Amino acid sequence: MVEGAAGPATNTGVMPAMNETISTEVDADIGLILCDNPPVNALGHAVRDGLVKALDTLVADERVKAIVLACAGRTFFAGADITEFGKPRREPFLVQVIAALERSPKPVVAALHGTALGGGFEVALGCAFRVGVPKARMGLPEINLGLFAGAGGTQRLPRLVGPAKALELVLSGKPVDAAQALALGILDAVIDAEPLVAGRLFARRVIDEKLSAIPVRDRDDKLAAVRTDPAAFDVLAEKLTGKLEGQAAPAANVASIRRSFTLPFDAALAEDARANAELMAGSQSRALRHLFFAEREAAKIPGLPANVEPRKVGQVAVIGAGTMGGGIAMSFAEAGFPVVLIDATQEALDRGIDRIRGNYATSLKRGSLSQAELDRRLALISGAADRHAAKDADLVVEAVFEDEALKREIFAELEAICRPGTILATNTSALDIDAIAAVLARPEDFVGLHFFSPANVMKLLEVVRGASTGAAAIVTAMSIGRKIGKVPVVSGNCDGFIGNRMVAKRSAQVDLLLQKGALPSEVDAALKSFGFPMGPLAINDMSGLDIGWSIRKRRGTPFPVADAICERGWLGQKTGRGYYRYEAGDRTPLPHPEVEQLIVEISARLGIERRPIERAEMIERMLYPLINEGARILEEGIASRASDIDLVWINGYGWPRWTGGPLCYADEIGLGTIVDRLQAFAADTPSDPTLKPAALLRDLAGQGSTFAEWQKSRSGA
Ligand SMILES: NC(=O)c1ccc[n+]([C@@H]2O[C@H](COP(=O)([O-])OP(=O)(O)OC[C@H]3O[C@@H](n4cnc5c(N)ncnc54)[C@H](O)[C@@H]3O)[C@@H](O)[C@H]2O)c1
Repeated sequence: MVEGAAGPATNTGVMPAMNETISTEVDADIGLILCDNPPVNALGHAVRDGLVKALDTLVADERVKAIVLACAGRTFFAGADITEFGKPRREPFLVQVIAALERSPKPVVAALHGTALGGGFEVALGCAFRVGVPKARMGLPEINLGLFAGAGGTQRLPRLVGPAKALELVLSGKPVDAAQALALGILDAVIDAEPLVAGRLFARRVIDEKLSAIPVRDRDDKLAAVRTDPAAFDVLAEKLTGKLEGQAAPAANVASIRRSFTLPFDAALAEDARANAELMAGSQSRALRHLFFAEREAAKIPGLPANVEPRKVGQVAVIGAGTMGGGIAMSFAEAGFPVVLIDATQEALDRGIDRIRGNYATSLKRGSLSQAELDRRLALISGAADRHAAKDADLVVEAVFEDEALKREIFAELEAICRPGTILATNTSALDIDAIAAVLARPEDFVGLHFFSPANVMKLLEVVRGASTGAAAIVTAMSIGRKIGKVPVVSGNCDGFIGNRMVAKRSAQVDLLLQKGALPSEVDAALKSFGFPMGPLAINDMSGLDIGWSIRKRRGTPFPVADAICERGWLGQKTGRGYYRYEAGDRTPLPHPEVEQLIVEISARLGIERRPIERAEMIERMLYPLINEGARILEEGIASRASDIDLVWINGYGWPRWTGGPLCYADEIGLGTIVDRLQAFAADTPSDPTLKPAALLRDLAGQGSTFAEWQKSRSGA
């Protein structure tokens, strides 16, 4: 061990090492432990082992009176090493490291910067003191992976902030910033300095002012109040988890926080370990971890030359100030991009801008947007009734009517107006993007950017790669998608792309279920019971039934029930009637007896004897055919990964996250079961040959394999 002033905290630091990730130093009477494990100082085995050894070394050093724990690089420990999940555990476990820090006879000061999340935050909670730099953020996001903070986080946090606040924090999974953490009593100080310097400054105070260092586990003042009125905690828990039915992790988080004031610390910790291991082994956490990796994978685009850099995007233009164009403009403004919104006429433009103002005014009233932020966003959005206003744009997103000839005309003109290198994108839902690209001299700069409605809210962005879309356009589209907070997924060019092509298979089954005996409310209730926030028919009513009707006419695939409803002029919420009935100014779906009668008549006309249909059968009929279509989409290379398809459904169609998306769910059910059921459906409905199991699905089922294994074998992992 070498003495002397601590060097700068860099990833190439030269402090003497416990191992390749942890080093120590002694500066007069302050011991320093520095972790340098790029990129995010994840708490893998080497780090944990090094921490215990470093602590032992400094505790044994007589000169040391207080210890600072800090990290090099961009963040304090950002969490557990997620790649160790599912592998054999190796000691020292995180709980043991934290216990060692907490029982250290010399007070340990954690110096936080960057994002101290999950296990990283739990390490800090095990220290006697915590200081943060002003930009530090911290929290326990385990719920997002279907878990709770299993290394004592849910026992220590309530001791600092009280069980009620702790519950809010763990159920939201969102981090707090340094100022909030200071106000809540999580941090002892916020110090604007390099983390090591901040830690040392506070350690100086600890030594000189003999600050009392009570281990967090031994603090009881914030718990005592709750013990006198535990019912208030239950009321809060009910309020916060009421809508999270069917999910295991929220209830487990509540139960763990409750243990903080009902059980002794060690007993609570032991029960936490058992309960978290159960969650970890369960299908929900597995599905949520799958999605965590899926998002990282989706960023890798096969078949591109190496080192293609995204083009710089400053100014954005959106053509078409309707429902989608307005939402798309809002997404860009929210992320700080100046946007010019262009429509054909001043009236249409004014309507579009008014709708944006109206949306923002609603958010302001609800308290989800401040006046300052509203002003900032509106100032970024300008309007024009002339396409030449797009001339300085680096990216143009077209969202005019779904009319191929109109779109072709617009892009031909845009190519002349905009400078070479501008990315030209269409938000078409289902048109052939190669047919649009055919009018362009630079089709390599043309790409599909398929947003979902409402475009300022929905996370999914399908990046549609046409036959001549260039690498730079794809990479730029993916990069800009992430910058505006979307989850971009690459799709090949086909009718409906990934998501809507699969939805069409579900819609056909929904119509069939209505013909065979179900009523709209039963169909919707079935998918809601699976975890979708809304049923497919209530969604159709919301979007307008005429959209699907015109697509079916174009494809030549009539749906007896849906078409009959449209023919009567019942087009959903906008006409006050659709599958359901709506009172003026109210979006609540009410039973629509005339539709129910119409459905019964259609069954009779088709010679179908209506029968009661079990909820489980309805779910299988709605989900398995879309899974089957997902397999075809993989066979054709429209999606390059099974997990990309899962992301599409999770982020664009309300598929419940905790089941991991359609193909992850199919793996869980077993592909053999899916194939058997599809064969039964195909035999029952010979008019629909697409119900026959796809070759890929059949093959994988035959081998006893899964979509996940198929994906792994292709990526060579
Ligand atoms: N509504 C959805 O749920 C949804 C979802 C994804 C994609 N899309 C696609 O987005 C596009 C727009 O859909 P929408 O629902 O916003 O339609 P919309 O009818 O609400 O808006 C279309 C806008 O385009 C404008 N427009 C028409 N011709 C124009 C021209 N020549 N120049 C400039 N502006 C012109 C219209 O005035 C109108 O404001 C379509 O291609 C649609 O398929 C829609």
